[in-house]
Amino acid sequence: MTRHLITSAIPYINGIKHLGNLVGSQLPADLFARYQRGRGREVLFLCATDEHGTPAELAAAKAGKPVAEYCAEMHDVQAEIARGFRLSFDHFGRSSSPENHKLTQHFAGKLADNGLIREVTEKQMYSLADGRFLPDRYIEGTCPNCGFESARGDQCDNCTKQLDPTDLINPHSTISGSTDLEQRETKHLYLCQSKMRDQLQAWIDSKTDWPILTTSIAKKWLNDGDGLQDRGITRDLDWGIPVKKGKEDWPGMEGKVFYVWFDAPIEYIACAQEWVNAGKGTDWERWWRTDKGADDVTYTQFMGKDNVPFHTLSFPATILGSGEPWKLVDYIKSFNYLNYDGGQFSTSRGRGVFMDQALSLLPADYWRWWLLSHAPESSDSEFTWENFQASANKDLADVLGNFVSRVTKFCRSKFGEEVPAGGPEFPVGSSVLADLETRIRAYEGHMEAMDVRKAANELRAIWVMGNEFLQEAAPWATFKEDPELAASQIRFALNLIPLYAVLSAPFIPDTADTLHKAMGVSPEWPGPAADALTRLQPGHGFTVPDNLFAKITDEQREEWQERFAGTRD
Ligand code: 2FM
Ligand code: ZN
Repeated sequence: MTRHLITSAIPYINGIKHLGNLVGSQLPADLFARYQRGRGREVLFLCATDEHGTPAELAAAKAGKPVAEYCAEMHDVQAEIARGFRLSFDHFGRSSSPENHKLTQHFAGKLADNGLIREVTEKQMYSLADGRFLPDRYIEGTCPNCGFESARGDQCDNCTKQLDPTDLINPHSTISGSTDLEQRETKHLYLCQSKMRDQLQAWIDSKTDWPILTTSIAKKWLNDGDGLQDRGITRDLDWGIPVKKGKEDWPGMEGKVFYVWFDAPIEYIACAQEWVNAGKGTDWERWWRTDKGADDVTYTQFMGKDNVPFHTLSFPATILGSGEPWKLVDYIKSFNYLNYDGGQFSTSRGRGVFMDQALSLLPADYWRWWLLSHAPESSDSEFTWENFQASANKDLADVLGNFVSRVTKFCRSKFGEEVPAGGPEFPVGSSVLADLETRIRAYEGHMEAMDVRKAANELRAIWVMGNEFLQEAAPWATFKEDPELAASQIRFALNLIPLYAVLSAPFIPDTADTLHKAMGVSPEWPGPAADALTRLQPGHGFTVPDNLFAKITDEQREEWQERFAGTRD
């Protein structure tokens, strides 16, 4: 049977992520992992925190903490929030783990052995006041092209001209403001991606079933003159994975670390080792080594579109360049951006709703449902409070919640808290059973294809069918004339509840759990609808669940709209 290795892009350690980050990788990855587990397939679902790089160092300095301590704390914060959103990682690792140190150094050694790394001596800006080399984007000055005063060392945001920090007039460090900068020589390792162009091109060309968003970005980078340039994979920083060639020191590279984007994707593999070392699994190689059984694995990655070049070119270059039998990704599901109420979510300006804030307002299922049913798949999408309120109130409260409440309460009042017997098992003269069969299979198809919005639409349509059936059958009216017919109608409607629970579990797992418990059954993926809808036999006990979804009021909406328009402290 197919085994599924699923990874989500690993979030940067500095700060709590906003809802746009969540819907771009972790949440759809969780949807897919839950669906595959629901189908009885073996899944390894991994994510981690991305802990290296200058932003992590600066965030730690701002928090007044040693960077290792800052990262350990923030990892726990992110892990707790992930639990709050019910992200069902088998392991939530750390790119700063000893496993990743070793593996990253191993890959660098192999790449060097295979002639894919060269040493380059270059000039870079050094800030005497900060006591460090400055990455280009941490230098600002006046653009020589348009006169814009806050042009960054890599690009002018005003006229978009690509710049070199030495082009800037009056350059200064954005960390300290100091203008005491000088050029110094430094040596770095470059990954010779350009030597691998043909191999990468052939690999990308073979992926004819990938989403257009993924392949169009990959091909643009591959064919663009700059796209597959050799890339520096080391940095002059204190925090990171020390540059080594396997276990050996790398002469001339003392005191340097690997670039964060070199070690971050390697963490996908190291995370599986962490999973084993944490005692949660026994064999990581059968997921990652094609010589140890991983040929049977289907590997799917989830990420925002900005991450695509690193996953379609740089990381595969590392894997292929090693010459070792590592598993390559089979499918890359990428997402556009989610915008916030007429603008962008912004971490630096604190604009939008952040994951911890969202959970303080409403349970996870509200957010999961809205985000997934509005996932930015074919284009960017937008979060507005009006739309959020309308969708939650309609889909969750009016459609699903109301159906469950009507059926269970009516049954309790007329027949008690047991499935009643009655006449025919299925509605006579109605196409509801056949329609459900069609829709369930369509839903499965969309989930297999990771068409998130289509799957959500199909699920919503399945929920709607319950209310339509009740409306048509009107058991409250039938009951007066023909209690036995009403009993069979209610038996059929009660049987829809465990079906809804199991189908909905990937989207709204807490609600699904409540429904399974109330109906006294465990999750079971539906085979033919006729079988699934006879699971609850006459006499089977159930309880009426509490109101599943409270409606979002206009006052709440207005208050939240105002509260989150501004800046997060
Ligand atoms: O964009 C980001 O949030 C990065 N931290 C994603 C890294 S994914 C990977 F390569 F590990
Ligand atoms: Zn300019």
